[in-house]
Amino acid sequence: MSKAPVYILAIESSCDDTSAAVLRDRKALSNVVATQHIHEAYGGVVPELASRAHQLHIVPLVHQALAQANIDKKQLSAIAFTRGPGLLGSLLVGTSFAKSLALGLNIPLLAVNHMEAHVLAHFLEAPGMTAPPFPFLAMTISGGHTQILRVEDHFKMEVLGETLDDAVGEAFDKSAKLLGFPYPGGPMVDRMASQGDPRRFRFPIPKVPGLNFSFSGLKTSILYFLQQETEKDSDFVAKNLPDLCASIQHTIVTILMQKLRKASEQTGIRHIAIGGGVSANSGIRQALKAEESRLRWITYLPPFEYCTDNAAMIGIVGHLKYLEKDFSDLRVTAKARFRIGS
Ligand code: KG4
Ligand code: ZN
Repeated sequence: MSKAPVYILAIESSCDDTSAAVLRDRKALSNVVATQHIHEAYGGVVPELASRAHQLHIVPLVHQALAQANIDKKQLSAIAFTRGPGLLGSLLVGTSFAKSLALGLNIPLLAVNHMEAHVLAHFLEAPGMTAPPFPFLAMTISGGHTQILRVEDHFKMEVLGETLDDAVGEAFDKSAKLLGFPYPGGPMVDRMASQGDPRRFRFPIPKVPGLNFSFSGLKTSILYFLQQETEKDSDFVAKNLPDLCASIQHTIVTILMQKLRKASEQTGIRHIAIGGGVSANSGIRQALKAEESRLRWITYLPPFEYCTDNAAMIGIVGHLKYLEKDFSDLRVTAKARFRIGS
């Protein structure tokens, strides 16, 4: 007799995307996201506006996720939600909603660490996706995070390195802002970079010990460089945009790849799983491809919808926790700072 499927409703609200997903076992039957465009006018995420937008979106989004999955809420086995890390006001919306619904339906509640979810997204069952074998290295690169982890098992992972200041996505977005692009400018830098010379301008590679990263110095050096050059020629940025984008992207990719290579050398692990919105970057994708042939890496890049912040990745962690009966009680609280393993 085959086992009854596990249906999980998952909710993600840690930053500026509200998302809801329904999973049948490891497969996402739906994964809907409401991106908040309101922040674009401010050049970054405004926490108070983010939590208000989550409140507006969460109920219709959950209805949509259930309808797309063709699942009635009475069929749900459990509710998974992002407990942290993230913006506290945003997390509270998802946490309160998940608790109320679990209480109302009298089903278990599963508290999920957002950073673990970026790593475990690779265990979703979807076309074109293969789960990496243990142990593997995971690199999460997004607007909010930059981490390299050694993953021994679903719930046994260690942070080997992380950013000491800005996240890599912020480095892209802040550089883009200096060049005059609207927020978030990362994808535009990528697009422009394809027409430019990555070696035309040199920006310093920070010397950070171990496997940690730092990106704040890059932004400062770009700022000073642009100030100097525009004093000499006020059209400097406009005249050199593709080369500037290509050179900035090249610098960021070099910083990431140096640390990833070092992590692989130190651990002897060649299975590398990438997550986070910055994994869309073509420079990073090319660099990873190059190491597949040169260093015999096996890289894992999920479809983009599972790389950016999404509820399906919260759902897969929920599923794995459900199998272990690792439930939370209703006193569980949101945690703005929530380290993996804590
Ligand atoms: O994972 P994500 O959607 O949200 C979080 O920050 O958690 O990542 C968004 C970040 C933004 O900083 C955006 O500029 C960056 O990912 N990004 C890119 C590209 N696509 C998205 N950065 C560089 N090149 C891209 N193609
Ligand atoms: Zn994220």
